[in-house]
Amino acid sequence: MSQTRKDDLPVAKRTGALKAGSSDAWAVHDAATKMKRNGEDIIVLTIGDPDFETPDNIVNAAIESLHRGETHYTAANGILPLREAIRRYESERLGWDVSMENILVCQGAQNGLYSVMQTIVNPGDDVLSIDPAYPTFPAVIGGAGGNMIRVPLKHTDGQFRFDVAAAEAAVTDKTTAFLFNFPHNPTGAALNQQEAETVVAFCRRHNIWLVCDEVYAELTFDAPYVSPMSLPDARDIAISVRSMSKSHAMSGWRVGWVLAPATHAGHIQNCINAMLFGGAEFIQRGAAAGLELNIADEMRAAYQRRRDSLVDKISASSHLKIMRPESGIFALIDVRPTGLTETEFAWKLLKEKKVSVLPANSFSNLTIGFVRVSLCVPSEVLEEAADRIVALADEITSG
Ligand SMILES: Cc1ncc(COP(=O)(O)O)c(C=O)c1O
Repeated sequence: MSQTRKDDLPVAKRTGALKAGSSDAWAVHDAATKMKRNGEDIIVLTIGDPDFETPDNIVNAAIESLHRGETHYTAANGILPLREAIRRYESERLGWDVSMENILVCQGAQNGLYSVMQTIVNPGDDVLSIDPAYPTFPAVIGGAGGNMIRVPLKHTDGQFRFDVAAAEAAVTDKTTAFLFNFPHNPTGAALNQQEAETVVAFCRRHNIWLVCDEVYAELTFDAPYVSPMSLPDARDIAISVRSMSKSHAMSGWRVGWVLAPATHAGHIQNCINAMLFGGAEFIQRGAAAGLELNIADEMRAAYQRRRDSLVDKISASSHLKIMRPESGIFALIDVRPTGLTETEFAWKLLKEKKVSVLPANSFSNLTIGFVRVSLCVPSEVLEEAADRIVALADEITSG
């Protein structure tokens, strides 16, 4: 029998849509981590991975769970104690009685975003997305067969804000959902009462889902973030995707949840089930312990102190402009006054000052000319990095 070689077995078309965004965006980060590995003193501000240790009582709860032998299959929608803890936590955050039927545990917000999109988007649907967009949004929308239509934030008075006029201009009769991310990465914009009401009214008017990526909901500084999920009108059309990665320094644990109308939650559960068949129990025990902690207040205060000192230092430079983030773990610096592009500035900063920042053009055309700085290093390290950033801008402009 002759052996057949099948080099041409089919590859699903959606694999193209699932591919991560531009790898160029991460070239500075990749170079920085390599230099660091080789012993160079690099300050890495390219990624948003909290530098804090996961709190002890979370770690201990997970270890105790392992020792109890909780190493078996779990329910696809999450273990009961975690869903109970989420129910209490979210009822308090949103000001209404969240029910157990609204809650699905998932493995980080990314897993939640993918699962939700699979359940609300048909091939060929238009899906609105806030722009600048988190780099995985094209893949979660495209992976469900949707066409991503960007809805640019409005840039006024040194702030990016949600602009309903841009959403009205982008919506079509094929639109089925709006992928909304506030508090926003990378601009740090939050949402006020009027903006939250406006987006809910917009989605109701056009009969589309509102998917709120709220991974930074706990980390707001100047004014409280108003979640669209807190509005009564949102309850039957909105889905929230949540995470403990940032608020509880648990990025590597891969744990979060989805809040969805009870009538729809079963579809999302089916998707999570098809992918995962339930998450690890010890992780979920740790997460449940974390939700009883109030650690988010401490995290918020630490990021706020870092934000303030970074903004003070960069604002003192006449060659850079920093946007004061209202929330989150990033800040955007406008490097255009130096005459360099964001990519040129980022590479020069890495080579000459040993600091890595992310060229923000990868998020959107709106952030061309900006670099994104992560607040995920101790204050004194961030201040040292800020001094080096200012020094580079001074040298470029005086040379
Ligand atoms: C806007 C946004 N959504 C989703 C995620 C993914 O979060 P998780 O670690 O919970 O998957 C991130 C992580 O940086 C993010 O910034």
